[in-house]
Amino acid sequence: MLQIENLNKTFELGGGTFKRALVDLDFVAQEGDFVTIVGSNGAGKSTLLNMVAGVYAADSGTIAIDGTDITSWPEHKRAKFVGRVFQDPMMGTAGSMTIEENLAMAYKRGQRRGLKLGVARNRVKFKALLAELDLGLEKRLKDQVRLLSGGQRQALTLMMATLKTPQLLLLDEHTAALDPKTARRIIDLTQSIVDNHGLTVLMVTHNLQQALEVGNRTIMMHDGGIVLDLQGRKREDTSVDSLLEAFSRVKKERFLDDRALLA
Ligand SMILES: Nc1ncnc2c1ncn2[C@@H]1O[C@H](COP(=O)(O)OP(=O)(O)OP(=O)(O)O)[C@@H](O)[C@H]1O
Ligand SMILES: [Mg+2]
Repeated sequence: MLQIENLNKTFELGGGTFKRALVDLDFVAQEGDFVTIVGSNGAGKSTLLNMVAGVYAADSGTIAIDGTDITSWPEHKRAKFVGRVFQDPMMGTAGSMTIEENLAMAYKRGQRRGLKLGVARNRVKFKALLAELDLGLEKRLKDQVRLLSGGQRQALTLMMATLKTPQLLLLDEHTAALDPKTARRIIDLTQSIVDNHGLTVLMVTHNLQQALEVGNRTIMMHDGGIVLDLQGRKREDTSVDSLLEAFSRVKKERFLDDRALLA
């Protein structure tokens, strides 16, 4: 479904210094894969998601969806099939617009034209969807989004990102800023939306327990590359402790031997 080959991205940090954020990265996700991504700060996780979403252009390498090379496609063109939720609850929604306007905009994939009509036509549907969140938002359709809490705003962003079923859903630590109970609720909601639509998902998380529990596959990134790819039996047999150990080992060895991880 998603094919990434030999992807490279280097950022200029100023003062003549450079950071190779992605280094010869290869990655293939199958249709319906729900991949959790772990790795230390600065490993390149967000850069990978940003490259797939088209926020940054690739220095070299290719990104393809179902065999179509999208490497040079601009972000807005990819937004037609990529949904995303960021770590920061302030992003992904327009604070000065109401809940129903935000939903209508998502429904029109970002187009502001004809928003009023979009709201009027879909109000009943929006209400029903929001009621499913069980956060009371269905009674606040005309509230500006800036009045919502971080958790409420993330739930809304997730709903917006999946309103027009995307082929690929990108989640970058989307529960990191939330209290444990709300984070749990958002994860459950994520899982049910993904199950209902059979979405392909890349989800970055620092919660190793969650990384192993949610989805069907876990990759670990380090220094701009993928150093571990766990699925099936291998993943089932991996504990949080052994994943933690892999974190410290990868710092010394760069590439991990999967068999050693489970030994
Ligand atoms: N826009 C940018 N300009 C310059 N450097 C950047 C930019 N984006 C990322 N980097 C650098 O690239 C490297 C990878 O960053 P990235 O945000 O992908 O890490 P991450 O794995 O998401 O880390 P974290 O867990 O802290 O979110 C870091 O060294 C970072 O400073
Ligand atoms: Mg990040």
